[in-house]
Amino acid sequence: MIVTKATDPSSLSNLSDWRTTKFDLDLTVDFGKKIVTGTVELALKPTHVNVTEIVLDTSYLDIHSIRIGEEDVDDFTLDERNTLGSALHIPHVLRTRMVNTTVHVSIKFSTTSNCTALQWLPPAQTSGKQHPYLFSQCQAIHARSLFPCQDTPSVKAPYTARVRSPLPVVMSALRTSTSYDRDTGLTEYNFEQPLPIPSYLVALASGDLASARIGPRSTLWTEPKELLASKWEFEHDTEEFIRTAESTVSNYAWQTYDILILPPSFPYGGMENPNMTFATPTLVSGDRSNVDVVAHELAHSWSGNLVTNVSWEHFWLNEGWTVYLERMILRGMHGEEARQFSALIGYQALVDSVDEFKEQGHMEYTRLIPDLTGCKDPDDAFSSVPYEKGFALLYHIEKTIGMDLMDEFTKAYFAEYRLKTIDSFTFRSFLENWVKTNGGEEVSEKLAKEIDWEDWFYAQGLAKVDPNFDTTLAQKCYALTKKWEEADDSTSFSKDDIKDWLPGQLVLFLDKLGALSTPLSNSKVEKLAAAYDLRSSHNAEVLSRYYAVALKSKWSDVYKEVADWLGTVGRMKFVRPTYRLLRESDKELAVKTFERFKDFYHPICREMVKKDLGL
Ligand code: BES
Ligand code: ZN
Repeated sequence: MIVTKATDPSSLSNLSDWRTTKFDLDLTVDFGKKIVTGTVELALKPTHVNVTEIVLDTSYLDIHSIRIGEEDVDDFTLDERNTLGSALHIPHVLRTRMVNTTVHVSIKFSTTSNCTALQWLPPAQTSGKQHPYLFSQCQAIHARSLFPCQDTPSVKAPYTARVRSPLPVVMSALRTSTSYDRDTGLTEYNFEQPLPIPSYLVALASGDLASARIGPRSTLWTEPKELLASKWEFEHDTEEFIRTAESTVSNYAWQTYDILILPPSFPYGGMENPNMTFATPTLVSGDRSNVDVVAHELAHSWSGNLVTNVSWEHFWLNEGWTVYLERMILRGMHGEEARQFSALIGYQALVDSVDEFKEQGHMEYTRLIPDLTGCKDPDDAFSSVPYEKGFALLYHIEKTIGMDLMDEFTKAYFAEYRLKTIDSFTFRSFLENWVKTNGGEEVSEKLAKEIDWEDWFYAQGLAKVDPNFDTTLAQKCYALTKKWEEADDSTSFSKDDIKDWLPGQLVLFLDKLGALSTPLSNSKVEKLAAAYDLRSSHNAEVLSRYYAVALKSKWSDVYKEVADWLGTVGRMKFVRPTYRLLRESDKELAVKTFERFKDFYHPICREMVKKDLGL
């Protein structure tokens, strides 16, 4: 039997006393007041008979009333808040003293203007300019600011939701029915998520949404204006991604796989909300060059959504595995060379993250298993480390036991832990036992010899990560970097330099230029943009890297353009590094720019940039 730890350093709930087995949300979206009001009913099972209270996570919520079964509870209390929110204490002893009972707690609540899970957009911030828009982002610990719950990935439960809104609603669930209420003018949307999910995967969006089919089990949702372009961007690959993932792991378990393209302030590239991946509009670049993000979010349908990290300390089991599967999808569709190239770009991201943490004096976050005890905010620990160090460990295991065995192991692991949660130690022992049984003595010994688990789990920095990936596709990028580095006035450049390049190659080339120990001269930076049309690129991956090169060279002609661009994207991957670089070039402009655009950003992004700028 698998006994997972009953504590999660990022939750205030008394997880060793109760487990949520189901929850039902009944919500009304109030665009006027910018709040969501409603009721959550939690079905809770005690783990022993001596329970005295139910403690739930909340953050910036107004709690109106609580009932347990048919009885009102008046003596509930809310703790003073800390970084993890405020614990809601509901006194309760078991009447029957039977563990096998389920207690139904029903809580009426509303969100407040401080809610960190929701962004409310005025019509001006939508593409249609006619209607407001609302969306949520709950990972890692923001679900507690949307509804009271056991906000921990160690607890998984199916849910239903009924949401009333004047505008179409989507959720991380299957839509079951819709009805219009003439009295209120609101439409009621009903949803059901039959598979058990952790709280961080609850998601909601409401706005002027249109939809189009992009595959036999997939629909694309977006504001009407972006519908055609978004449909084109993803219709070619989505179903093939699903099929390739199915043959890598197992049948797709969630029935439908839809994508919602959000307004530009969405703070991530993508978020793997079950049945409904949320994605940034920066993916819609008109050349399908960012579809790998969809492969990534889809891969979470297995790693993360079926097999879930038990706490945010074991986040690499979600993200490292997802990057591994994403690259297996890439391999299946475009060959090993493509996978190697993606791993190489990933390695560069890992190096950058380690450098960044070193600069901030936070090397403890470069561990594969960080220590989040002491109310640390998981958002502060977020970086490429769990993604790329996690991938590197799995790749190292693959190299050690061989690709054939790794393929089998992947299937066995996801079969064993589906619908469950897992930590790093259980992962290790499952791997070791599985290899002993299925790989024989020799491979088993090789595994023991090759993998220094202490080091992989706890060492800081790059540690055992092997940067040795095939560089076939990278050679041209390195050569062109060198040419720019060594160029003088007589060296000529043209679009031919990058003819037939993959978008990823341009990205790697710019990464390398940005990493030169002596930044390029201003005149080279100017020439660089002109040679390859970089400043008019529709690919944010390219544009943001060009700006990084320019800012590192302190080319002041570009500052204003960069500042304006910061008001058009809210994806933290682009916004945060750009603010940090702009601060180093022109602190006053960086702060002024943030003041100008802070209402545009999602609350999570706003908080992080504030920290980055030292405000
Ligand atoms: N689950 C993450 C996004 C996330 C992580 C949100 C932690 C909140 C806290 C998602 O799957 C992700 O990794 N997105 C990446 C995509 C990329 C790795 C392809 C992103 O947003 O850039
Ligand atoms: Zn991910």
